[in-house]
Amino acid sequence: MADQTMPVVEHRQKVCASFATDANPRLSAVLEAVVRHSHALVDEVQLTREEWRAAIRFLTAVGDRCDDTRQEFILLSDTLGVSTLLEMVNAAPAPGASEPTVLGPFYVPGAPLRPYGDSIVADPATGGTPLVMTGTVKGLDGIPVPQASLDVWQVQPNGLYDIEENPSKRNLRSRFETGADGAYRFTTVRPVDYTIPDDGPVGMMLRATGRHPWRPAHVHFLVTADGFKPLVTHLFDESSPWLDSDAVFGVRPSLAVEMAGEECAYDFVIEAR
Ligand code: BEZ
Ligand code: FE
Repeated sequence: MADQTMPVVEHRQKVCASFATDANPRLSAVLEAVVRHSHALVDEVQLTREEWRAAIRFLTAVGDRCDDTRQEFILLSDTLGVSTLLEMVNAAPAPGASEPTVLGPFYVPGAPLRPYGDSIVADPATGGTPLVMTGTVKGLDGIPVPQASLDVWQVQPNGLYDIEENPSKRNLRSRFETGADGAYRFTTVRPVDYTIPDDGPVGMMLRATGRHPWRPAHVHFLVTADGFKPLVTHLFDESSPWLDSDAVFGVRPSLAVEMAGEECAYDFVIEAR
């Protein structure tokens, strides 16, 4: 901490006060918190001018790496654990409900709706080990939820999402709807461990700090139903060696399931609004 405690405190209070406005109290509160925490950071680590310039160069590079198909700021938020914290704050599950985790950058709205039991393998060159995923969508009361929508998407066995290969490619992503019994079932291939995109500034940050870019094998789900809160989550392969060190801190032990056999079963429990 700085020796001249009072000037630092007075300076912080003066900057905070400059953002006080009755016109938008929420904006004031958020900006005052930004000031408090950023000032505390500079003071705590006694940040040098060169380090501040390096931070600005880094954030500029993060912005430069963003385009229509790549969002390096989301990747930064993910690898800093902020995306997961945001879910903890905004989507804390009720006891007994399935746990949420990060959406990630590879969700594409409007995936093709397929019938119960269908395959999500659209590219015949996909390869991999066939796997059936099945279960029921239920409410907290255990009653099946009919007409629930399940968006599913996952990485290809080559370690890339379809849209990383070609923004218009659609492979290993689909939407299903539960019937009257709340059941879902589809065929896919066993997901593989893969690396988050690490050829940009976020990858440099990981390498500079000895971190790896691996995510444990998983299938993404977005479960929605009338009268229920949307659930954004993954199911993880419980045998992945990266479960304890996910590059984006998205693993919840309750979401790790057996995927080694022909069929993987999991019941989603969603919460009424
Ligand atoms: C994903 O699981 O698709 C993902 C999540 C966060 C960052 C990169 C990828
Ligand atoms: Fe993923």
